[in-house]
Amino acid sequence: SLYSALATVAAYLLGSLSFAVIVSRAMGLSDPRSYGSGNPGATNVLRSGSKKAAIATLVLDAFKGWLPVMLVKWLGEPYGLGEGTQALAGFAAFLGHLYPVFFRFQGGKGVATAVGVLLAFQPWLALATVATFAIIVVFFRYVSLASIIAALFAPAYYLLGNGVAWPASGAIALAIAAMSVLLIWRHRENIRRLLAGTESKLGSKKKP
Ligand code: G3P
Repeated sequence: SLYSALATVAAYLLGSLSFAVIVSRAMGLSDPRSYGSGNPGATNVLRSGSKKAAIATLVLDAFKGWLPVMLVKWLGEPYGLGEGTQALAGFAAFLGHLYPVFFRFQGGKGVATAVGVLLAFQPWLALATVATFAIIVVFFRYVSLASIIAALFAPAYYLLGNGVAWPASGAIALAIAAMSVLLIWRHRENIRRLLAGTESKLGSKKKP
């Protein structure tokens, strides 16, 4: 429907707000695309040394994924919008983060935004996925590795919860799977560095 298309485009535009760049600019820090991994994301902003900026980036990048899905959930029904549009809106916000129209289509890797989208889809799914991420970060200290492994588990968790914790929707399952594929693809340089043993550990300011 037209409403579904409008929601999807609005979600894409919201997702296109690269908060790593916006927050760094607002706090007078250097552009995250100019140091570390060059990635406009919370992990790389942390390499600037500002925990505050990194947390603000993480929260805002997650929020922009969460909000459009929740708006469809809250306000969509009278417009005939259901889980299909929730899935589209979530995926569109994620795509906006990866390919932001406001930043020459040069965005981030989608970890925080995907967490926000998952949280809006199913809170327990987000919890399980973030717990998986946390376990890997604690043991290995690589945010990238934890992101990749959590992305591998998220679609499986969603399907496992079907009929137990929630009735799974095909559209949402597809959105989660598509986010995972793209997220892992965006980490291809991290994968190369992990295999080469040159990936930077959490908190380290060393250039990878
Ligand atoms: O924030 C994305 C994370 O998984 C990797 O970021 O900067 O280490 O490439 P980065």
